[in-house]
Amino acid sequence: MSTPPATTADVGVYVPRPERYRWAIRAAALVAMGTWWGLGLPYSLYAWNLDAKQLRWVLICYGWEVPVCGLLGPLLFPLLWFRSIERRWHRVFNENRVDDAEATALERTLLDYPVRVALVLLVTSLVGYGVGALQLRLLAQLPIGEIIKIFMLGLVTGLVGALFAFLYLEALLAPLLRPLGEVHPLTPTRGRRVPLYVKVFACSVILTITTILLLGTIFYTRGERILEEQVGDRVLAATQQLADELAADGGARAASADWWRAREARMQLGAAGEALVVDGDGATLAGYPPRPHLFDEGFRPAVAEAILHGPASYLVDRVYDPRIVAFAPIRDSSQRVVTVVHRGEFGQELESMLWRGGVVCVVTLLLALVQGLLFSLRLTRPIDLLTTMVGTITHSPGEAPRTVPVRTNDEVGDLATAFNQMTARLEDARGKLERHSADLEQRVGEATRNITSLHDVARATTSTLELEDVLKLVAEKTLVTLALPRLVLLWYPPDLGDVVDAYATAGADPSGRLELTEPIDLAGLCPPSARPTVVDAQTLATTLPPVVAGAALAGERALVLPLIFKDQLLGVVVGGMAPDAPSPDVELAAALASQAATALANAALFETARRHEAELRKLTGMRMQLQEESVRSLSRELHDGVGQVLTAIKMDLAMIERAMDDGAMPLRERVREVREQVIGLVQEIRTMSQLLRPSMLDDFGLVPTLQWLTERFSDRTHIAVELRTPEPAPRLPGAIEVLLYRVTQEALTNIMKHAQARHIEIELRVDADEVTLAIEDDGVGFDVERFRRTPAVGGVGLLGMRERVAYYNGRLDIRSRPAGGVRIALSLPLDAASSGSDGSRGRVTLAG
Ligand SMILES: Nc1ncnc2c1ncn2[C@@H]1O[C@H](COP(=O)(O)OP(=O)(O)OP(=O)(O)O)[C@@H](O)[C@H]1O
Ligand SMILES: [Mg+2]
Repeated sequence: MSTPPATTADVGVYVPRPERYRWAIRAAALVAMGTWWGLGLPYSLYAWNLDAKQLRWVLICYGWEVPVCGLLGPLLFPLLWFRSIERRWHRVFNENRVDDAEATALERTLLDYPVRVALVLLVTSLVGYGVGALQLRLLAQLPIGEIIKIFMLGLVTGLVGALFAFLYLEALLAPLLRPLGEVHPLTPTRGRRVPLYVKVFACSVILTITTILLLGTIFYTRGERILEEQVGDRVLAATQQLADELAADGGARAASADWWRAREARMQLGAAGEALVVDGDGATLAGYPPRPHLFDEGFRPAVAEAILHGPASYLVDRVYDPRIVAFAPIRDSSQRVVTVVHRGEFGQELESMLWRGGVVCVVTLLLALVQGLLFSLRLTRPIDLLTTMVGTITHSPGEAPRTVPVRTNDEVGDLATAFNQMTARLEDARGKLERHSADLEQRVGEATRNITSLHDVARATTSTLELEDVLKLVAEKTLVTLALPRLVLLWYPPDLGDVVDAYATAGADPSGRLELTEPIDLAGLCPPSARPTVVDAQTLATTLPPVVAGAALAGERALVLPLIFKDQLLGVVVGGMAPDAPSPDVELAAALASQAATALANAALFETARRHEAELRKLTGMRMQLQEESVRSLSRELHDGVGQVLTAIKMDLAMIERAMDDGAMPLRERVREVREQVIGLVQEIRTMSQLLRPSMLDDFGLVPTLQWLTERFSDRTHIAVELRTPEPAPRLPGAIEVLLYRVTQEALTNIMKHAQARHIEIELRVDADEVTLAIEDDGVGFDVERFRRTPAVGGVGLLGMRERVAYYNGRLDIRSRPAGGVRIALSLPLDAASSGSDGSRGRVTLAG
């Protein structure tokens, strides 16, 4: 699976810019070129006895070759490769995101870079010096020996340069590798692996070869010179002697071949060596084998010039076949004796020295190699050991780490000791961690068990509000959770004052109430700390009635668990503890007691509320009945009593009016007015009586009554009322008809008082088992939500409506929005009239 790209922001690494290193690489190339010039040129000038022409060629060669090779080798390739590194770098760290595959490739390139540049330097040096040697061989006719030396010089310079380039670049580019290392610190590096011992070995080999080659070349060159000087001096002396002899003899003997051979043998010129007599122009006058001209020997002009015109001396001619040429003028003549010795024939001594030197070099080299190898292995073995050990720890993290048995008094030893100390501390930390985690695990296990138990208890005790069930659950769950063999739950039942109830439970035994014949002081039982406490069972037994002590106590110790809710002592659990049982977890017991107390308090509250509600319903029913009856009797009284009296008065007034004579006209008129007022009053009383309790409700039913009511309302208020009722008009139970009439009455009154409505819709629907009534106006509406929160701010009309509907298990829904009118909808079950006083309450909803 490929890991998502990490960002530099993630790893928080400073990312350097590779461009900064370009100058350092250019400078390194310049140093390489400078070294070639600085080492090669003085060596060449010093080591070879160069004549002017050779010198010129040498300088020309160095002049073009070093810059060209330098530009091609140390500069061109490293910079090209570095450019590609830069490009890759920017791709990898583009927009602060590190691409994994690209980062791997970049790291490999960066790690390989010093090795590649080192190889380039070696190859460049070998090629450069090789080409140089070839040129000098062709153009300046340098002997093979010198060519080999030049090649050696190239090898030495290349090796040293490569070594230094590698070390320098590795150190230089280390900061570029750091961010990559920080992005993937746990994965091994991905470049070509160069083991440490190879690096150390390569260093020692390069330094050894360099030293041997340099010293060997210097000593060999020096020995060669000494040999040349010795041979030169000897041959010069012999040449001088021959010249003297020839001067004494007048040159006559030179013509005799035997004489000449004897002289040559005496001069020890070697197999190919020869002695000549030449004239001022170089023509050969004597010598064996005779040569027509000195120039046939192939001397370079400078050498020929010195031979023909210089004072007696010797020269070393280094062209192809190096020769030592001695020459001495013959006294009193223009002739000269020239002696040529081929250097190769006198170089045996040197060659054997070279051989011995070579053998010594090879042996030294081998020894150095072996020593270097052993040294590097010895140096790196402890590190290898260390690495292996670290690898073992990394790959088997579960195992106890072993110590590294490396004892050396150097940095590796320090590293091993530090590593051992680290592993010891790691082991120590791991031990602590294991102990800590075991402890933690145990505590977490306990806490989980406790939480599970508490959760279990909470779920069980909140699953019901029935007091009896809660009591049983609290007792049983406490018994199980606290692992008590038996217990008695003593508590104050609701609304009974100081009366104490006792509930006992004991594992498999049946649980149940205890008959208490004497009072118990629960406050006296409660520990002063008001927390779960373990007490002595015998002492406790003296404060408990025997029936409780017998049911609760088991061994020598007992747990007293006060049940406190909102600082009020609701009860106490007394539980006996098994003889060998551990002390219970006080915190768990306290949490349990708190939950039990809450459950008991809720159940008690629920019980009280339920009782109060039943009482309230009863009272409501009675009040409504009373109200209806008083309204009915008031209505009847108005109709039958006051109405009848007024009718009698009206009739009396009519009679008085008729009995009065025309003379009392004004009085008669007055009586007539009074009679008309009484007629109006009779009508008013009748209407009032009807409105209070329309007799038509009992006689004709709800629908005609509602029609009458709405018509009266429209007449009085001029608000249009649309009434929709079922056809044919059904009759409903009396109580329901009264309820629906009263609700409509109150709704219409409210509309008249508050709504400023213009139109009202009333709809009555009667289904098989339900009747619904909806009254909707288009008035100003009101904030139902506010009314719901604080119903006391309004009057009692809506509250009465709600109470009536609830009493008959109906649903009342009042909806309104300010300026959006009000809609009151209620629905009642048709069996409501008979079930009006049972326990279940109707639902009332208010919505804005
Ligand atoms: N149809 C309506 N349109 C606008 N507001 C209403 C309407 N019905 C009720 N209200 C508002 O609801 C309040 C409560 O009504 P409720 O009938 O309970 O009391 P009331 O009419 O003010 O007094 P009461 O009925 O006791 O004489 C009213 O004061 C009024 O603000
Ligand atoms: Mg009202």
